[in-house]
Amino acid sequence: MTDLSRPTGPRIIAIANQKGGVGKTTTAINLSAALAEAGRRVLLVDLDPQGNASTGLGVEMEDRDQTTYDLLVDDAALDDVIQATVVDGLYIIPATVDLSSADIELISNEKRSFLLHDALRQVAMDQFDLDYILIDCPPSLNLLTVNAMVAAHSVLVPLQSEFFALEGLSQLMLTIREVRQSANPNLRIEGVVLTMYDRRNNLSQQVEQDARDNLGDLVFSTIIPRNVRVSEAPSFAIPVLSYDTGSQGAVAYRALAKELMGKQNRAAA
Ligand SMILES: Nc1ncnc2c1ncn2[C@@H]1O[C@H](COP(=O)(O)OP(=O)(O)O)[C@@H](O)[C@H]1O
Ligand SMILES: [Mg+2]
Repeated sequence: MTDLSRPTGPRIIAIANQKGGVGKTTTAINLSAALAEAGRRVLLVDLDPQGNASTGLGVEMEDRDQTTYDLLVDDAALDDVIQATVVDGLYIIPATVDLSSADIELISNEKRSFLLHDALRQVAMDQFDLDYILIDCPPSLNLLTVNAMVAAHSVLVPLQSEFFALEGLSQLMLTIREVRQSANPNLRIEGVVLTMYDRRNNLSQQVEQDARDNLGDLVFSTIIPRNVRVSEAPSFAIPVLSYDTGSQGAVAYRALAKELMGKQNRAAA
């Protein structure tokens, strides 16, 4: 269903790849932070039971009383689940391990694939005046990821610059096609972003070449380098943009945000 009623609502982007450890959560945190730094109002939905995005943005366990689980399973009010983060203009719906049982608990719910879609489109969302909603998906093509794809306008795929990187992509593309056919015909691929890139490494260059040959324009020009500051930032519970603002990782995520915003302007023109 298209939202003719809310033509200016936030752009909803699912960050997905069923492989673990490819940079989904890192991209969710730092792209969100970079968009917020550029003056956009952003909500990050933590849809991974591991709750790493919540931890990385400084949401303590005792502050995860109301989570994505409550939003999906218990119809919690947006006001109760959305909280501010350490970054100005960046909000989060945190997650806990509770979310891992949502799959099973929702199995008999007829609307199980539409729960996030419907939750994010409540009128109560308007008060947050958001420009973007980013969804950090779990490392699986399960019901949670399907909920993200049904809710989203587009999917952003982090691709680790490593051997076999492209192998899982066909499965992911198949799921996107299925979601288009069944529930969300307008779902687009926002783009594929190469992560943990090491330019001294031939393999990184080979993966980039393969990705650009096979996926063409879908691959973002911006590449996220492997950068130790990026991996250190979560233990301080802040994005790399605040942890080391001049680091290569911070610079790259700012560039990615700029490229993303540029695409939207083009699409709107
Ligand atoms: N650009 C990067 N440079 C260095 N380490 C990174 C970078 N991106 C991610 N990492 C590290 O790689 C690991 C996996 O990243 P993560 O974002 O959690 O992946 P996913 O969410 O896909 O499982 C984490 O330890 C993270 O800190
Ligand atoms: Mg993750």
